Amino acid sequence: MIFDTHAHYDDEQFNEDREELLASMRECGIGTIINVGASLRGCRDSVTLAQTYPFIYAAVGVHPDHTGDLNEESFSWLKKQFYEEKVVAVGEIGLDYYWDNESHDIQKKWFIEQLNLARELNLPVIIHSREAAADTLEIMKKHAKGLRGIIHCFSYSKEMAREYTKMGFYIGVGGVVTFKNAKKLKEVVEDIPLDKIVLETDCPYLAPTPNRGKRNSSLNLPYVIEEIARIKGIREEAVIEQTEKNAKEVYCIK
Ligand code: NI
Repeated sequence: MIFDTHAHYDDEQFNEDREELLASMRECGIGTIINVGASLRGCRDSVTLAQTYPFIYAAVGVHPDHTGDLNEESFSWLKKQFYEEKVVAVGEIGLDYYWDNESHDIQKKWFIEQLNLARELNLPVIIHSREAAADTLEIMKKHAKGLRGIIHCFSYSKEMAREYTKMGFYIGVGGVVTFKNAKKLKEVVEDIPLDKIVLETDCPYLAPTPNRGKRNSSLNLPYVIEEIARIKGIREEAVIEQTEKNAKEVYCIK
């Protein structure tokens, strides 16, 4: 079944129909979903969702845009969330120089702290990196040696993708791959082996064509699968099977 490695069902855009929508997942072929925390509140809500739905697991971590909310006290609260059941990863963490919400020093500090936390807990990491290719790679080379995880919503070159797959990381591919102008990501998908790719939505954001601009959900993943299968010249079923296997491996889900 389809494995969505990155979703935000805690987002208020789902307030009206969250239960109904999540109830329809299994019959639409969605087998497992990782709900990823971005803010402190998002982390708390991700844990609650994982405790409510058998097919949802949680990732807990603070997105670079929200690192201004981190201090000794909130970080110690964050660490406690990992005692909850079904918390399977540290994420999403990283650098975002596009929105540039916090200073680069603050972003780097908490990125490194959370990488260290993942190592302590022996958990995979979910990396968010936007317009920060060089700094992300530098920090990863120094502080993520031996860690496993996913480079989420990959937006860099195929050379950069090779760097990360060599380090043992998976590349997260979502709705963007269906966009006509996504030449770079299509190249990445063509270049790297299927056993290094995982599927993701980042919903409610980044809905694939033909639903681009609308609210995204895991139910749109068949469009992403179709495009990956087309690029690689393989069957859609093979994409579903291999990416599910990859995701279960990285998150240690049986
Ligand atoms: Ni995300």
